[in-house]
Amino acid sequence: MSATNGRAHVRGIVLAAGKGTRMRSTRSKVLHELCGRSMLWHVLRSLHDAGVGDVLVVSNAEVSEHLQTISSDAGHPSASSVVQEPQLGTGHAVQVALGELAPGDGMLVVVNGDMPLLESQLIRSAIDACAGALALVTARMPLPSSFGRIVRKGEHVGRIVEARDASDDELELDEMNAGLYVYDEKKLRAAIAELRNDNAQGEYYLTDTVGSLVARGESVVPVLAPDYRSVLGVNDRVELAAATALLNRRLCEHYMRAGATIIDPATTYLEPDLEIAPDATILPNSTIGRRSTIGAHAEIGPNSRLSNARIGAHAVVINSLIVDSVIGDFAQVGPYAHIRGASELGTGVRIGNFVETKNVKLAPGVKAAHLTYLGDATVGDRTNIGAGTITCNYDGEKKNATKIGKDVFIGSNSALIAPVEIGDGAMTGAGSVVNHDVPAGGRVAGNPARALPRKEKP
Ligand code: UD1
Ligand code: MG
Repeated sequence: MSATNGRAHVRGIVLAAGKGTRMRSTRSKVLHELCGRSMLWHVLRSLHDAGVGDVLVVSNAEVSEHLQTISSDAGHPSASSVVQEPQLGTGHAVQVALGELAPGDGMLVVVNGDMPLLESQLIRSAIDACAGALALVTARMPLPSSFGRIVRKGEHVGRIVEARDASDDELELDEMNAGLYVYDEKKLRAAIAELRNDNAQGEYYLTDTVGSLVARGESVVPVLAPDYRSVLGVNDRVELAAATALLNRRLCEHYMRAGATIIDPATTYLEPDLEIAPDATILPNSTIGRRSTIGAHAEIGPNSRLSNARIGAHAVVINSLIVDSVIGDFAQVGPYAHIRGASELGTGVRIGNFVETKNVKLAPGVKAAHLTYLGDATVGDRTNIGAGTITCNYDGEKKNATKIGKDVFIGSNSALIAPVEIGDGAMTGAGSVVNHDVPAGGRVAGNPARALPRKEKP
């Protein structure tokens, strides 16, 4: 979808080149993450959802390097970037962007890259409101605040004064500049050429275009944000934590409205783009990310983490970590299990305390209830893995596979020295060190494991 406001095509500029010195970080500010995605990702997603598909990001070298990955993940595969070097202020950033863009006669949405709570509806409202030179998004906010103040001339917007340049009286004003602007491009091009940097920070302020447009007799339409929290800027780590809490709450509410039960949203950490089916339950202290999916009636937590996990319907995960893996319907995992490395657990599998799996395929009904490591293994239907079993998959040079058939009984404390194959219905005694294949129905025990004599029939 491409946005129009009924009369003109709308393009977007994201200001994301600032170093973000107040973050005190080696990483650029807009690359800092909240709820599993960078600030820039969130802004790009909102623009996408508002229908602004044609986006130019004003970047520094580091942001430009990551832009392709971030923008494709946010749904903007074609976002382009222009590097602003040196960074002489938000007005300079827009000058650089306009130098890059072929001149047009449509609308330009300009948005600060450090407002990750921005919602697409507000962008839409500003686009719809842009009838003159500029629709300027403002917000009433509790004081004190470091935002730029909107100085009104009667009913109308007169100019913006930055907090650092404001008089004591101006600092008492509680209508703020949000950092989201929809300009008539031609009028912006005329005003931006006039910017000067004679202010407290010695920077070219984009906000000065407001006063100069007003001075030219152009109309600047204020668009008051219904909730100031959706335009909070993130300039340091305190603001990052505050924004993270707000965004996380918003995500929890989104998934709850879609039917998930979240026992304690304050200690449940979610990300965008999860799939949580109705009637799934998430218990406290759980973190769910990287496009994980959770089936209906599944129960996750407490104290669990899912990352790129697919959890089946009615599955239960308690106090466990599931990474890059699939848990079948009705399976039970935990407490204290670590399932990773493309493990696939079939329907009704049971994985208990202190069990780790890596790159395994466990068929339906397999049980490994205690203290076990299964790596690079396939296990057949209904097989029981005794406590303390280890697949010794690493020979010091490479990883080797273990194949265990169906209806096998692996005795407690067995060490299976890979590569090794255990046939259907076989059995290993407690403490076996199995370094040879065991045929179907075979029974072995000992170190090294040897076949047990067949029981004489009485
Ligand atoms: C800015 C506004 C202020 C507003 C506030 C809202 C100006 C002068 N002030 O202040 O009125 O209330 O946002 O959050 O615009 N950037 C560049 N190149 C630069 C400088 C900044 O791309 O040379 C980018 C930054 O990466 C950032 C955005 O522009 O994403 C805003 O810059 P920032 O320094 O955070 O401005 P604020 O002081 O927050
Ligand atoms: Mg800022």
